[in-house]
Amino acid sequence: QTGYITIDNGYKNTGATKSAITFLDGEKGILHYRGYSIEDLAEKATFLEVAYLLIYGELPTAQQYADFEYEIRTHTLVNEDMRKIFEGFPVNAHPMGVLSSLVSAMSAFYPDSFDSTAPEDTELHIIRLLAKLPTIATWSFKKSQGHPVNYPNNNLDYCSNFLNMMFALPVENYEVDPVVSQALNKLLILHADHEQNCSTSTVRLVGSSQANIYSSISAGISALWGPLHGGANQEVIEMLEAIRADGGDTQKYIDMAKDKSSGFRLFGFGHRVYKNFDPRARIIKKAADDVLTKLGVNDPVLDIARQLEEAALKDEYFVSRKLYPNVDFYSGIIYRALGIPTNMFTVMFAIGRLPGWIAQWKEMRANKEPIGRPRQIYTGATLREFVALENR
Ligand code: SDX
Repeated sequence: QTGYITIDNGYKNTGATKSAITFLDGEKGILHYRGYSIEDLAEKATFLEVAYLLIYGELPTAQQYADFEYEIRTHTLVNEDMRKIFEGFPVNAHPMGVLSSLVSAMSAFYPDSFDSTAPEDTELHIIRLLAKLPTIATWSFKKSQGHPVNYPNNNLDYCSNFLNMMFALPVENYEVDPVVSQALNKLLILHADHEQNCSTSTVRLVGSSQANIYSSISAGISALWGPLHGGANQEVIEMLEAIRADGGDTQKYIDMAKDKSSGFRLFGFGHRVYKNFDPRARIIKKAADDVLTKLGVNDPVLDIARQLEEAALKDEYFVSRKLYPNVDFYSGIIYRALGIPTNMFTVMFAIGRLPGWIAQWKEMRANKEPIGRPRQIYTGATLREFVALENR
């Protein structure tokens, strides 16, 4: 091997690319999408405006937005043969496993996605992913309830359409509560992109071999599922429920998290980049109060979450390691108040992160970045002779 190879496990100090999409300042807790602050976007934009901004680089004009929204509304239907694949899953299949499988299966329904080596050929595939992911995502929930799946309704906006597919039943009228759709809009914006996180790096790496966009996004969904990444939002609620069932003794769980031998981590705490409050967690924590009050929901785990945060932020172990609540710490409390079940929380993260994955994949392909192929330092056996089976 020529030259020096430096090992950087987990790429803690490795820059994988240059990107113009998202800016993070971990020390100051700053997050910008294409130069706009997350605080501004979460308060003033719709999720589709943010999706357009991330993917195309600018906030859309009124006409561009109308065209983008129209394209998405008119592609929400999923090929009925996809339902046949879906019907093969057991009722208790985890929705993230179903989602990654069906998104990968989309490459079979759109084989022209294989031959697009230029990003401009992927516009229709981008629209299809944004339009169909919510439709596919609701199927698992409906099946788990023993209810018929709902078709998309093109008269509804993006968030209302998702909620309608999730909660409408053929036996009664369903009206989307604006408080619920506005809360969902904000949560999706807060999850839309986050520079080179694990799942985005996965999408870029898979896409760097010129694999099609559906396979690349499906790989991102799989990476997001991990409990150390997007899967943490489900783990947080399960952790808070366990603390509640255990008498609400938050200090006991903080002490367990400090004891390495316990193998337990405080889910929703810590971040590779943020060594200060995750700006998204700050916004979600405030929104949790607001939404639960407006919906008249009194969720005891919210108090436990607050107690846990307060105790951890006073504890030397967390303070010295700069471990603060991250995006996953409070998000599940809002999802739950919206009626979304715990095993769908990471699916919600995937729906939010989809435009970010798409934007990063498109940027990587437009920049004609080389195939990702890191090296290693070999630590295995030196050369040795083969020994025939009868002599082993
Ligand atoms: C997301 O990258 C992104 O941007 C991700 C994300 C996005 O938008 O894409 O922000 C979304 O994935 C948020 C993170 C969700 N994950 C969790 O909440 C799981 C719990 N958190 C940890 O597993 C951890 O903090 C990570 C995975 C988030 C970050 O891991 P790092 O950067 O590799 O840090 P580390 O594991 O090396 O921890 C540093 C120290 C270690 O202790 P020491 O070796 O110094 O003694 O802090 C400790 C860790 O043991 N530590 C924790 C802890 N997180 C870190 N100890 C207890 N509880 C925790 N949660």
